[in-house]
Amino acid sequence: MAADASDAVGAIVDVIARSATEIRQGLVGRRGTVDAENPSGEAQAEADVWADELLGERLLALEGVGEYASEERPAVESDGDGLSVAVDPLDGSSNLESNNAMGTVFAVYDEPLPAPGTAIRAAGYVLYGPITTLMLAHDGSVTEYELSGGERTPVREGVSLPAEPGVYGFGGRVPDWPDDFRTYARSVESELKLRYGGAMVGDVNQVVSYGGIFASPALDSRPEGKLRLLFEGAPIAHVIETAGGRSSDGSRSLLAVEPDSLHERTPVHVGNATLIDRLEAALD
Ligand code: F6P
Repeated sequence: MAADASDAVGAIVDVIARSATEIRQGLVGRRGTVDAENPSGEAQAEADVWADELLGERLLALEGVGEYASEERPAVESDGDGLSVAVDPLDGSSNLESNNAMGTVFAVYDEPLPAPGTAIRAAGYVLYGPITTLMLAHDGSVTEYELSGGERTPVREGVSLPAEPGVYGFGGRVPDWPDDFRTYARSVESELKLRYGGAMVGDVNQVVSYGGIFASPALDSRPEGKLRLLFEGAPIAHVIETAGGRSSDGSRSLLAVEPDSLHERTPVHVGNATLIDRLEAALD
C-alpha cells in the first residue's frame, strides 16, 4: 500500500478508536428506539442513529476518506477521492435493552462501495464489554487494544485463534435451521461449549479468545441469512482470516463474495479452519 494510503488507514482507525469511548458513554439515555427502520428493515435505536451520525461526520472529514457507508444509511456518502469506510456503528444494538455486549464493526476498502472483501485494507471491531477493546486486523496481523478516555493501549499483538477450539455460538431459531446445518450443529455441540449472546461482535470475540465457531446461518425462512456482507460478514472475515482462521458463506470465503448491492445479506460462518472445513463438507 502507498505510504499516504497507509497514513489514511491510520487516521481512520484513530478516529474510530477515539470515538468509541465517547459512543460508549453516549449510550446512557439512548436506549429507546426512534420511529424509523434501517435499510434492512430493522427498528433503529436512538443510539444507532446517533453513533452513525458521529462516525459519518468525523470519517468524512478526513482527507483520505472518499466514501462512508453504514448499515443505518440507504446509500453511500461520497466526498471526493480516497478510501471507502463501511461501518456498522452499533452491532447487536437490540442488546441495549437487556444491557448486554455490543460492538462497532468497520472495514476500510480501497475500492468504491459496494466492493468485495479482497479490497479490504484494514478491518476491526470495538467490543463494549466490561472493558472497551478494539481488535484490529491491519498489515497482516491482528492486535487487541484497550480503549479508555480516548487512549488506545495495545494489550495483545499477533493475535491468533487458539489451535484447540472451545466454544460455539449459532444464531437464529433451531426449527428454522436447514437440516444439513442442524446435523452439523448436533456434531459440534458434543465437542464444544455453547456461548451465544446475540451480538455478533461479542460472540465472535469468544471465538477469537477460546477458539471455535460462530455462525449466523442460512435459515429456511431466510436463505440469504441475516447479517450484512459489507458491514458485518466481510469485516469479521478479514479479522478472523488474518488471525489464522477461516470464513465461509457455506461454500467459499466471505472475502471472495462479489457484492451486487450495498446492503446484501449473507450466511456467516467464522472460526477455526478445521470447523469451517467440516461445515462446508456438511452443507455441500
Ligand atoms: O446485526 C444483527 C445482530 O444483532 C448481530 O449482531 C447478531 O449476531 C444477530 O443479529 C443476532 O441474531 P439472532 O438474535 O437472530 O440470533
